[in-house]
Amino acid sequence: MRVLFIGGTGIISSACAPRAVAAGHDVTLLNRGTTSTRPVAAGAEVLRADVRDADAVRAALGGRTFDVVVNFIAFTPDHVLSDVDLFAGRTGQYVFISSASAYQKPPRRVPVTESTPLHNPYWRYSQDKIACEEALLRAYRERDFPVTIVRPSHTYDPTSVPIHGGWTQIERMRRGLPVLVHGDGTSLWTLTHHVDFAKAFTGLLGHTRAIGEAYTITSDDVLTWNQIYELLATAAGAEPRLVHVTSKAIAKVDPDRGASLVGDKAHSMIFDNSKLRSVVPDYVATIPFERGAREIVAWHDEDPARQVVDEHFDTLMDRLVEAHRQPRAA
Ligand SMILES: NC(=O)c1ccc[n+]([C@@H]2O[C@H](COP(=O)([O-])OP(=O)(O)OC[C@H]3O[C@@H](n4cnc5c(N)ncnc54)[C@H](OP(=O)(O)O)[C@@H]3O)[C@@H](O)[C@H]2O)c1
Repeated sequence: MRVLFIGGTGIISSACAPRAVAAGHDVTLLNRGTTSTRPVAAGAEVLRADVRDADAVRAALGGRTFDVVVNFIAFTPDHVLSDVDLFAGRTGQYVFISSASAYQKPPRRVPVTESTPLHNPYWRYSQDKIACEEALLRAYRERDFPVTIVRPSHTYDPTSVPIHGGWTQIERMRRGLPVLVHGDGTSLWTLTHHVDFAKAFTGLLGHTRAIGEAYTITSDDVLTWNQIYELLATAAGAEPRLVHVTSKAIAKVDPDRGASLVGDKAHSMIFDNSKLRSVVPDYVATIPFERGAREIVAWHDEDPARQVVDEHFDTLMDRLVEAHRQPRAA
């Protein structure tokens, strides 16, 4: 199939592109060429354009048509509506990368399935993804626009430390400093390695039964947040000192991170991938976070330039940890 990925060198798409090439598809990536952290998939064609510049995208695409178009970087309804204009009649399938954060918060029932309501009163990012999905489903109903919606949950690769503050927290643990974990650290969270995501995702490309449908793609690797921090600490050769602070208290001093806690990560999120397996029956996620954590630390340790410490976040952690330190017994 002829497949276009808008993106292609991002955390998620960098695993999907080589997987699609390996599946025998003719893969074209469209991006600005500014992200060099991850390699361009060998064998993929690359077109250069800023996706927010409709004229530049049209010029880069020329007269090409596709069997599948995937937009990895659409966040608001205007992004997907301009895709509907651009790709209607030019693709057999259009895949929108939404987010599992769109599912009802707090979830009234776990595991979360595709029939869990989409309702997130806390996080603007998720509300915008819901609005994108609604716009695309309207285009499907009214214009037969061949949409498939994919909802990843937290997906990481070796370059991305999947905790707030990223590498700064690993540095803190290596320096013996306490790190802050939201809540009491026992809420459950699902992390997915991007290579596992790509296995499931590639199976949806060109799948006629996936048109008009939405799919969650996650691993079954359910961990507490305490475990996530402990596994990263072990991989980094550090002894974790975890300080627990309520998500609401974090949100008070750091509203952006707070929204992604109260609107997502503070809730126990366990997903049922049965719907996905009904169309991609051989999908099994095989990379546990123990291995993922080791890959993350190894990638950062390979080059000190990758070990970026956010001074602002570091200072904020010191303040929050100090304010919430348990008083020592007399
Ligand atoms: N990772 C997660 O945990 C998670 C969870 C749920 C949903 N999602 C969704 O997954 C998607 C992110 O996918 P990803 O991880 O592969 O992407 P990403 O890491 O955000 O990478 C962005 C990719 O898009 C390209 N790009 C960025 N801005 C561009 C622009 N203006 N014009 C053209 N190309 C541009 C980048 O290349 P250049 O910089 O070279 O242009 C790069 O290839 C988002 O829709 C996000 O909401 C992610």
